[in-house]
Amino acid sequence: MSANRGQWSSRIGFIFAAAGSAIGLGNIWRFPYVVGENGGAAFVILYLGFVALIGLPYMFGELALGRVAQRNPVGSIDAIKPRSRWRWAGILGVLTGVGILSFYGVIAGWTVGYIHKMLTNNPGGFEQFVADPWASLFLYALFTLLTISIVYNGIEGGIERWAKILMPILFVLLIILIIYSNSLSGSGGGLSFYLNPDFSKITGSTVLAALGQAFFSLSLGMGLMITYGSYLSKQENLVTSGIYIGIFDTMIAFMAGLIIFPAIFAIKGNMEAIDASLRSGPGLIFKVFPEIFSQMPGGIFVGVLFFILLSVAALTSTISLLEVEVAYLIDEKGARRKTIVWAAAAVTFFVGIPSAVSQGGSDFFTNFGLIPERFAGPDFLSQMSFIFGDLALALGAFLLSIFIGWVWGADKAADEIARNSPFFAKTRSVWMFMIRYFIPLVIFLILLNVFGIFN
Ligand code: PFF
Repeated sequence: MSANRGQWSSRIGFIFAAAGSAIGLGNIWRFPYVVGENGGAAFVILYLGFVALIGLPYMFGELALGRVAQRNPVGSIDAIKPRSRWRWAGILGVLTGVGILSFYGVIAGWTVGYIHKMLTNNPGGFEQFVADPWASLFLYALFTLLTISIVYNGIEGGIERWAKILMPILFVLLIILIIYSNSLSGSGGGLSFYLNPDFSKITGSTVLAALGQAFFSLSLGMGLMITYGSYLSKQENLVTSGIYIGIFDTMIAFMAGLIIFPAIFAIKGNMEAIDASLRSGPGLIFKVFPEIFSQMPGGIFVGVLFFILLSVAALTSTISLLEVEVAYLIDEKGARRKTIVWAAAAVTFFVGIPSAVSQGGSDFFTNFGLIPERFAGPDFLSQMSFIFGDLALALGAFLLSIFIGWVWGADKAADEIARNSPFFAKTRSVWMFMIRYFIPLVIFLILLNVFGIFN
């Protein structure tokens, strides 16, 4: 069976695809905001440290597990430890993929809707826009179809091919927008707000939140890198590829801040001019930004480019999320890709319907409130984002790190990572210590922090 699972055809194709998964909505609206609020450059340095010392070593483990087993997350765990309860860690990963895709796809749909809104010079009215259940569902369906059309064509002909097209587009759009944003008068204040190092703003809980952000941003904790690693050839150097993915992901997140803060300061003068609830997340992107664009010279055009950028970033992430489910169904259930892609996407779409109508469309889902307010907003979408984007991802990363370090064995995992990586071979004992003790411990703290224990 493994012969026709598909494989990346080139190293750069794999790196683009995996970086495409990592670079997404999380980078563009969350990272810059967290940096701005938590000590600017001081936080960036800290974040880089986390990516290098915790995110990447953990990522090597996921990639190695996938490559050695040549299977999806569940199959990979089964291949190492047949018929054990550990397979539930893989199942959790696949379900987390469904959960994240279900709400992420809804937001991705809005980004496409906003391309249209900007084109028709209609930047306002976010509340009315998302409260219209049919518009949200239509856009969500459209984005799902786009995602299907790529995953349908498999690894090389679909995901890799499109990653090679979309990632350069994303990069060029970012550069254009950075240049534009920084050429506006008054934009300089934004840069200093973004980058002035202020170590006093860094607390234990912001540190852990940053770590959670690093995992979400690098697409870690749900077996995505196991899945993408399963299409890697044995010749590939996992360590350098992983480092590239980490660098691209962090660089793009950092660059997004170079668009956002200069633009805000040029138009608004400072952050306080923006209502606190709108300084991050959907409010920042869909309300503040369109308003700012409409006040800039040539702003409508820039707005169109900005929402194309977001759509592209989201698309390379949604295809990766769908691929985890699809790989599971192909490997474990013997399904054919071209049929199962539709079924998997349909089920996920169905799971996302409550999220799509939870922004005013349906009272019930708008005020769902199963999870207490101190963890997440009452609407269904925010609740899904908390359960799957924060909680399940941290739990998954914890279980997978224990599985890799203790059940599979740090030694065997290190053997797999060390193939074609002389540098890693020399430092493997450090990695082995990290994956067994340090990484599970840190992830455990992130998990506690998700529950607000340190607040
Ligand atoms: N890394 C993506 C982002 O930052 O937007 C989100 C994501 C994609 C998380 C794929 C997990 C995943 F498997």
